Amino acid sequence: MLSTTAQQCPYMPGGDDDGVEAGGGPTLAFERATPYVDYVGVDTLLSLQNTRTDEPAESAFIISTQVMELLFTLVQERWEAARDALETDDVPGAIAWLRRACNAQDVLNASWGLLADMTPTEFNRFRPAFGEASGFQSYGYRKLEFLLGNKSAAMIRPHKAMGGVVTELTRLLEGPSLYDAALRLLFRRGLPVPEDHAERDWTADYEPSPEVERAWTEVYRDDQPGNELFLLAEALLDVAERVTRWRHSHLVAVKRTMGRKPGSGGSNGLNWLARHVEQDVFPELWSLRNTI
Ligand code: HEM
Repeated sequence: MLSTTAQQCPYMPGGDDDGVEAGGGPTLAFERATPYVDYVGVDTLLSLQNTRTDEPAESAFIISTQVMELLFTLVQERWEAARDALETDDVPGAIAWLRRACNAQDVLNASWGLLADMTPTEFNRFRPAFGEASGFQSYGYRKLEFLLGNKSAAMIRPHKAMGGVVTELTRLLEGPSLYDAALRLLFRRGLPVPEDHAERDWTADYEPSPEVERAWTEVYRDDQPGNELFLLAEALLDVAERVTRWRHSHLVAVKRTMGRKPGSGGSNGLNWLARHVEQDVFPELWSLRNTI
């Protein structure tokens, strides 16, 4: 029932609580759950932080992981939009999407702050509760790695019981990555990208090439804002740098909370992760800096 009593709302001078003409303030009366709860799915969202122990740090661990999973999907959308723009020769469009992706990546990277104060003793108190669960099994993250060009069919295997996930990962495995799309564009623009980098078996991991480095070096010869390919290269590098920062922050969080112990996902932990931190994203955009 809608309330008919005209009461002064303390938050809105001149307002009342029936939602009609509330002195410029927001609507206060709803017969069912608020449209906000409906639209955002707040009840569902807030029902998902299922801790398994009484250790308070466990909720920070779950929430930070969930926040990052959400942001992985946003980054994926934006990288895919940038890749598609490149495939249609829309360089300004691609740059705009890469810039938006960077904004999402900045928030993603800032999320590590949620775990910054977790001690090893706190972590030890809930670690047995999650068993073999590991971020390594995150299919959202795997999609991002595939989009960057780090391809491996074996990385789909952990998800084989989830048909929809396999379909999505296979789609990304079999298509050009964001970087492949950039190289294809350079090829179409007559830069010396080898033909086998413009059309190839996209399921194979990306192999760096000196010719591709030469192509990007040519792009960097004109570093004026009028050169859209130069702006594209720098926008890709902004993305790459943020990926490395995420990996590095993860490594530091791991070192701080569990040292050199083996990971719950079966790896040797820190050493395995460190190799990934060292791997350059969009490698020739970094290596050209050794000689330019
Ligand atoms: C302090 C908290 C954390 C610890 C101690 C930790 C530990 C680890 C370890 C040891 C690995 C290596 C694989 C394994 O054997 O398990 C790993 C991988 C991974 N973790 Fe975490 N992690 C933490 C937080 C997070 C968070 C919040 C996320 C966000 C989703 C995350 C995502 C990942 C991903 C995506 C991988 C795979 C990386 C790759 O394939 O290169 N981790 N983690």
